[in-house]
Amino acid sequence: MTDHLVRTTWLFPLTFLCFFAPACQETQNATITDLSYRNMDFAVNLYRRISNYHDKNIFFSPLSISTTFAALLLATDGVTHEEILKGFNLQQLDRANQPEGIPQLFQLLHENITQNGSLKLEQDMAMFVSDKLDLEKTFEEQMGKYFEAEIKAVNFSDNGQSVVYINDYIKGKTKDRIKNMISTLDAETKLMLINTIFFRGDWKSPFNPNHTKTEAFYIDNYNVVNVQMMYKEARFFMGHDVFLGAKILKLPYDHGVSMLILLPNKDVDHTVIDDEINAHRFQGWFASMTEIKVEVHLPKFKMEESYELHKLLPEMGVSSLFTNTANLTKLHKDEDLKVSEVRHKAVIDVDETGTTAAAATTVGIIPYSLPPTFIVNRPFFFFIYHEDTNALLFMGRLIDPTTN
Ligand SMILES: *[C@@H]1O[C@H](CO)[C@@H](O)[C@H](O)[C@H]1NC(C)=O
Ligand SMILES: *[C@@H]1O[C@H](CO)[C@@H](O)[C@H](O)[C@H]1NC(C)=O
Ligand SMILES: *[C@@H]1O[C@H](CO)[C@@H](O)[C@H](O)[C@H]1NC(C)=O
Ligand SMILES: *[C@@H]1O[C@H](CO)[C@@H](O)[C@H](O)[C@H]1NC(C)=O
Ligand SMILES: *[C@@H]1O[C@H](CO)[C@@H](O)[C@H](O)[C@H]1NC(C)=O
Ligand SMILES: *[C@@H]1O[C@H](CO)[C@@H](O)[C@H](O)[C@H]1NC(C)=O
Repeated sequence: MTDHLVRTTWLFPLTFLCFFAPACQETQNATITDLSYRNMDFAVNLYRRISNYHDKNIFFSPLSISTTFAALLLATDGVTHEEILKGFNLQQLDRANQPEGIPQLFQLLHENITQNGSLKLEQDMAMFVSDKLDLEKTFEEQMGKYFEAEIKAVNFSDNGQSVVYINDYIKGKTKDRIKNMISTLDAETKLMLINTIFFRGDWKSPFNPNHTKTEAFYIDNYNVVNVQMMYKEARFFMGHDVFLGAKILKLPYDHGVSMLILLPNKDVDHTVIDDEINAHRFQGWFASMTEIKVEVHLPKFKMEESYELHKLLPEMGVSSLFTNTANLTKLHKDEDLKVSEVRHKAVIDVDETGTTAAAATTVGIIPYSLPPTFIVNRPFFFFIYHEDTNALLFMGRLIDPTTN
């Protein structure tokens, strides 16, 4: 039995978000808004799996991961296919007679998110296939049609050359931001899927770097670190989740994308909140928010996190894909293929402006009465989402801003 390696990697460098999600008109009765909603519950499930492993920072792109597996829906059949539908919470969007319905929804969502052209979202999916493997024509066509995925034939038996080829490809696609995506390749690799995504966003209302100063961040009762704390006083949407014991703040980026920060109250253990986040609650937060003048203190931070999804997803029921019982017959009829590796990598860099030059024009005004404060000086959760569709581009939790 040969080993076949499918490795998916997503990269999201820099400030913010990435990804997709949009909305759309009715397709087979399901809408991109339904898709976003379901994807959010998947995201939270995945989040809980990750948080079971450690109590550190977390950051990933739910939409990016789901999109890659929507592509794998086109490759799989039987039990493997069912497991993906179920694990990704897509079962109810599936129509027996419309195998392309879900990929089509993802496509519509993505179009909706990027339609404007102004959102700087670069994503790319490429499949590297052994030049010895003949792919099913239908699969190849669908990958191009719904995911604009390029399929590249690689001579995997020439290990060194393949690594160079793949790294060069990704480097080119990410405009030099990601230089050495892979360092080794298993000689048995037959198939590899790489998905890169890069989002760059600027705050609609930037922070003034002159107001950034060193302040304390309380990781827990015993650990305090110094951070570069940004400061801004402006009108923002803010709310409370009384049940969770947390405050919510929405910080908009340009072009219809926002970051929602969920800050547990001082006496609330953030691990309790892990179990309570879901799509329904997320939507409830919007209803609770009102626009108000508020003093915001938010640490600058960077995160670079990667996850081995082939280890996490089996716990969510997506298991046969990674074993010898994988049913990938829609990708290739004759061979016993399986997926040995799926990697996800996400990067975020939050600072005063995003990545471009400061454009702050804030003038300090002494208020007659002190505005409420939103001081992010302890572990918090954040969600970067597309407003029109509620598509969750990124989800994360920051426990310690000084570690990567
Ligand atoms: C995106 O989807 C939302 C929700 O369905 C819709 O209101 C909006 O008009 C769509 N935008 C575009 C550009 O298609
Ligand atoms: C989709 O909508 C059509 C027309 O409204 C309806 O007849 C059909 O039953 C719906 N299908 C599903 C699966 O909801
Ligand atoms: C894959 O699934 C299809 C549909 O259930 C089934 O007919 C086929 O035998 C399966 N093939 C493998 C190799 O499991
Ligand atoms: C693939 O690489 C191997 C090892 O370098 C080489 O022997 C073989 O000729 C190559 N095949 C093709 C089709 O280039
Ligand atoms: C498209 O971009 C323009 C200019 O930035 C903005 O005013 C508009 O709200 C955007 N529309 C959507 C649907 O994001
Ligand atoms: C920051 O301070 C410098 C020096 O006082 C000043 O020249 C600059 O305009 C300030 N920048 C902003 C964005 O206020």
